[in-house]
Amino acid sequence: MANKRASSNLINDPLWYKDAVIYQVHIKSFFDANNDGIGDFPGLISKLDYIADLGANTVWLLPFYPSPRRDDGYDIADYRGVHPDYGTLADVKRFISEAHQRGLRVITELVINHTSDQHPWFQKARHAKAGSTARDYYVWSDSDQKYAGTRIIFLDTETSNWTWDPVAGQYFWHRFYAHQPDLNFDNPQVIKEVLSVMRYWLDMGIDGLRLDAVPYLIERDGTNNENLPETHQILKQIRAEIDANYPDRMLLAEANQWPEDTRPYFGDSDGIKGDECHMAFHFPLMPRLYLALAQEDRLPITDILRRTPPIPAHCQWAIFLRNHDELTLEMVTDKEREALWNYYAPDRRARINLGIRRRLAPLMEGDRRRIELLNSVLLSMRGTPTLYYGDEIGMGDNIDLNDRDGVRTPMQWSIDLNGGFSRANPASLVLAPITDPLYGYQAVNVEAQALDPHSLLNWTRRLLAVRKQQKAFGRGSLNMLSPRNRRVLAYVREFTDALGNTQTIVCVANVSRSAQTVELDLSTWAGRVPVEMLSTHPFPPIGPLPYSLTLAPYGFYWFLLVSENAMPDHPPQADRLPQQELSVIS
Ligand code: NOJ
Ligand code: CA
Repeated sequence: MANKRASSNLINDPLWYKDAVIYQVHIKSFFDANNDGIGDFPGLISKLDYIADLGANTVWLLPFYPSPRRDDGYDIADYRGVHPDYGTLADVKRFISEAHQRGLRVITELVINHTSDQHPWFQKARHAKAGSTARDYYVWSDSDQKYAGTRIIFLDTETSNWTWDPVAGQYFWHRFYAHQPDLNFDNPQVIKEVLSVMRYWLDMGIDGLRLDAVPYLIERDGTNNENLPETHQILKQIRAEIDANYPDRMLLAEANQWPEDTRPYFGDSDGIKGDECHMAFHFPLMPRLYLALAQEDRLPITDILRRTPPIPAHCQWAIFLRNHDELTLEMVTDKEREALWNYYAPDRRARINLGIRRRLAPLMEGDRRRIELLNSVLLSMRGTPTLYYGDEIGMGDNIDLNDRDGVRTPMQWSIDLNGGFSRANPASLVLAPITDPLYGYQAVNVEAQALDPHSLLNWTRRLLAVRKQQKAFGRGSLNMLSPRNRRVLAYVREFTDALGNTQTIVCVANVSRSAQTVELDLSTWAGRVPVEMLSTHPFPPIGPLPYSLTLAPYGFYWFLLVSENAMPDHPPQADRLPQQELSVIS
């Protein structure tokens, strides 16, 4: 029953992920429908209208499978089930159907690099005979010195990638926590199992799969055990299954690597489709957005984009400001990491592994101008934007919580008990909501912001609505402009549709704390009128001379270039742009 889809309002386009705006949620922290203190699928279903009204069209769910939750669900004990705290399989099916009815697609996690040590495969493996197929579901060794050239990822907690198992009488390999043994992809049985799990969820109607920790599937002596050609062969097998049976689904690679090492995760067959993942996160871009603000210089951004190789036409980057993990600083130089740590995490409790465990708003010191600026870049840059739940209202974090829990606290819906997240006794909540005076739910919540025309929530909704009008953001080319003033980032997004109509958008962002002037070479578009897209206000036409602009501190513009003769009195394009909507959303 492959490829059976529930009745839906999904746009029928296999390249849907190019126009996606992804909203990332943790079920346990979104909304608790049965008031036991833990968010659940029925709760999430009841908030789907909120996500759709925000302007996202894709929901990415963090792992919800049975799990000891020692890595918040990335330690899976059963690939085909649902953690009883979150609901039942019937709830998941209803969730998928309800999402599809609202035109929302669903991305879930395919965590295949490792399982929990509680997974029956591991329990069987440790008792099985050395060298047997069952033992070889995982990677074993008599010595913990094998693969010595491999870095440790969870530096704060792990001292080795090997852990001794007294039952097996051997060491097992793990790139993450010691309770997360790595699966052995040299065992064909493991690949079969993984394909079967994938089919199981795709048959249920899941639209996309985030491939967690995908660079580490295969190990080979004498290498650093990342991005190996054999790992890419596995991904080609996974993709072949998608192409054969699920042509409208999407694979999203989580490969925290340099651009040149991430590029192969799209694969290549004919230069158009790619034969591995349709999408991959652009990890190195993310910290450089923060670095540009810290240094008041666009160079970190333009530099990494220059270093980013082209990708096949049907492929797409996924871009983000924050997610459920620490703001990772693995893909920067040591010097850059020090600068970012000093600037954004002077309090050492905010640091974890090679990163910063803070949310967007506190990183920006609550400065609306900076929050808006970074969002404007996220939503206009090449790639599919991924928003992290709660950042649209400027939620805060709690660096006193364990691990990365401080950025996974309950969604703040209202000033009610537990921030409107749950009616449970506060002492029994899965995580305490934020209650500090600046970011606590009394000060930052959806209900209040929905009523406030100037709130971050309504601003974000408006920006997403404006973005949605123009295909150029998801599908267009990106060309950097090079004004002399390096405090200003400027680029052109351009898209020509099937009828030959070209949309041109000029994006300009002041990454500094002071007002700036800039001269842009827009001579290619002489005669066009830049219409500022948020206000729909026309600016002076472009002439033969450099185009001068002034920008407020952290100011930005998105200009749609409209031909002058198309706007005798007022800009016709502008009339079609959405007006501010001010409905109450809950
Ligand atoms: C990447 C996930 O994003 C992270 O949360 C998790 O801890 C590791 N993979 C290990 O599964
Ligand atoms: Ca619950």
